Amino acid sequence: MALRVVVTGAAGQIAYSLLYSIAKGDVFGSDQKVELVLLDIPPMMTVLSGVVMELQDCALPLVEKTIATADPDEAFKGCDAVIMVGAMPRKDGMERKDLLKANARIFETQGKSLNEFAKKTVKVLVVGNPANTNCVLALRSAPSIPSANFTCLTRLDLNRAQAQVAYRLGRPCEAVSNLIIWGNHSSTQFPDAAHASVASADGSVSSVYDAVKDDAWLTGEFIKTVQSRGGTVLKARKLSSAMSAAKAIGDHMRDWWFGTKENKWVSMGVLSDGTKYGIPEGIIYSMPVKINADKSWSVVEGLSISDFAREKMDVTAKELLEEKEMAIQFLSA
Ligand code: NAI
Repeated sequence: MALRVVVTGAAGQIAYSLLYSIAKGDVFGSDQKVELVLLDIPPMMTVLSGVVMELQDCALPLVEKTIATADPDEAFKGCDAVIMVGAMPRKDGMERKDLLKANARIFETQGKSLNEFAKKTVKVLVVGNPANTNCVLALRSAPSIPSANFTCLTRLDLNRAQAQVAYRLGRPCEAVSNLIIWGNHSSTQFPDAAHASVASADGSVSSVYDAVKDDAWLTGEFIKTVQSRGGTVLKARKLSSAMSAAKAIGDHMRDWWFGTKENKWVSMGVLSDGTKYGIPEGIIYSMPVKINADKSWSVVEGLSISDFAREKMDVTAKELLEEKEMAIQFLSA
């Protein structure tokens, strides 16, 4: 049976890469039929009709149906997976709190609609920024859906970190594993190489710290580069990351759908229950997770946390607590 997959913000630049990747089977499997539901706002319906035409023109065998709509209730009806890319962009002169406010309403409303119309097994990935806080707001509005079914995207940050280490060592990206992104998808995030390893050409495995042999780089420039990569791409391209964001969304969703490999973990923003690594309860915080074949996930436990890491993990937790509080205040005002 076809999977009903909703992409919000479907007329935008990330969706333009993402939809093709889903439609050709890169995410849910090369033999899995899909019903693609494209949600955007009313002024974007003409643009969206062009995206639908292009999807048809791709003549892909896995796409059973394509639906374009501006109505979240219609979009989410009976859906299996939702990728929430649509969000109010930050405009010139707009303050961070204005962005939070505009998006709080969108994600609260769409959360309510998910609550009423989506399958209870739906898997929801929030991408639109501020992604962690938007994800909290969506899941709060959808109490009938397990909160574990809501995650936010920090895979792009993880992929950026993996690529930085791989290029530094002259190894392919897939040789580097178990890096971690802790916290917020913002410049306070903490890209952590302390538990990561790299496979050399002869198959032997060593820790990234032993292989790089430059602790100052791993605790300095590496972290800054990953934290600020989005801004650096934006400055160069005059547009925010889209191709790499779509690739990361595909990686995140594919791992969620099929499970992570033995002894490997990935990072994603998940709801903190307050019992792991001293992270406060009730925020969506990026952590290392393993995913099972039944799509359930668990946080990797027992990793040692240095004083250096502790400080960075607390800074990003504090920011997330503040963002959540501010967003909830707006909603109740
Ligand atoms: P874009 O501006 O090209 O597209 C956004 C689309 O969302 C537009 O078509 C807009 O009409 C639509 N939209 C706005 N409000 C909506 C609503 N209420 N319902 C449905 N659709 C709505 O933006 P782009 O480049 O595709 O990025 C989308 C979001 O993803 C942004 O918030 C961006 O900051 C975020 N992002 C997050 C990343 C992450 O790693 N978490 C990485 C890159 C981008």
